[in-house]
Amino acid sequence: MLFFGIESSCDDTAASVIDASFEKDGIKYKLLSNIVSSQTDVHALYGGVVPEIASRAHAESISAVAETALEKAGIQWKDIEAVAVTFAPGLIGSLLVGVGFAKALAFSLNVPLIPVNHIEAHAAAAFLEHPELSPPALALIVSGGHTSFYSMDKSYALNEIGGTRDDAAGEAFDKVGRVLGLPYPGGAALDALAARGFEREEYKKIKLPSPSLPGGELEFSFSGLKTAAINQIHNIKQKLSLSEDEVLPEKTREDIAASLTNSIVSGIVEKLKTALIKTGYKRAILAGGVAANSHLRAAAQEVCRSLGAELFVPSIRLCGDNGAMTGVAGAMMYKCGVKAGLDLNAYASDEAAKEYIDDLKSKRGI
Ligand code: KG4
Ligand code: ZN
Repeated sequence: MLFFGIESSCDDTAASVIDASFEKDGIKYKLLSNIVSSQTDVHALYGGVVPEIASRAHAESISAVAETALEKAGIQWKDIEAVAVTFAPGLIGSLLVGVGFAKALAFSLNVPLIPVNHIEAHAAAAFLEHPELSPPALALIVSGGHTSFYSMDKSYALNEIGGTRDDAAGEAFDKVGRVLGLPYPGGAALDALAARGFEREEYKKIKLPSPSLPGGELEFSFSGLKTAAINQIHNIKQKLSLSEDEVLPEKTREDIAASLTNSIVSGIVEKLKTALIKTGYKRAILAGGVAANSHLRAAAQEVCRSLGAELFVPSIRLCGDNGAMTGVAGAMMYKCGVKAGLDLNAYASDEAAKEYIDDLKSKRGI
């Protein structure tokens, strides 16, 4: 069954065609196309996503992105059998562009419209390349907006069991990256800088707090770490008599990147260990934009191996926002009987998204 997945929750306009076959032992997926049009160049000028600009850019590019996804899949509009769209959580103006487009598409093709939660879609990306993966499982979603643990039940729904009290890990990477003079978003560039910093011991001299809050709860706080790292950068600049606008020497930037990465990654995997022990799950999913981080991928793999658990991580191109994950999550929702009407709205928060889906399920007796 051909699903058309649409994603526009933040600053990527994305569309994808997924062929899902519903089999006795689960759903099998084939990725036919996956087109992502990123707005990062525009937002880089402002050092972060400007919501008004993001929604306008989605409105401008969504038709072309959708047409390209269809063309790359080698099919025609009449072949599409369901339209899946991210309806929450995210920037409301951005989400509304995708939702409006998806409604028009589903209406004109006379096919089901499937509402998809962006966080569940990130986790769903892991199923695309791992047909052996099936729920229940632990899911750790780490992105620019989220750093949370979820338990995934048999209906693929995610229930939060812990997470950050303030900023997300991606935000910490991006804000520190900006002060280090990296273009927005700095996550990937900081990953490479840190790799060079880890080759030496000096980064250990830059002491930063752990984002993992003490105790057995699955809680993080990234805002203190972010501020501490930025203060360290300012202090080092002062010592070197550099002005605010001047860039630190390359080795110092590498050491700061390594120290920050070490704090973030160690803090996250410490809680991953706690979460696996607490829940007893033997399968874990690591997904979201920050799951592309090479150091996090390696450390999470190590923790899972030590506990005899299996880790499923999407390949890097499927970690950041994309339409393929929406298509896969759409197929999961469709299997569970979830369908939206043409009155589908967009919601900024995860709580509102959950409420809408629960209401939809109870009305349909699911
Ligand atoms: O999932 P995503 O594309 O958008 C949200 O839903 O937030 O995640 C974007 C985040 C950004 O903060 C970006 O810097 C971060 O993912 N990111 C990385 C890496 N690649 C992307 N962070 C650390 N290391 C990376 N390699
Ligand atoms: Zn995302």
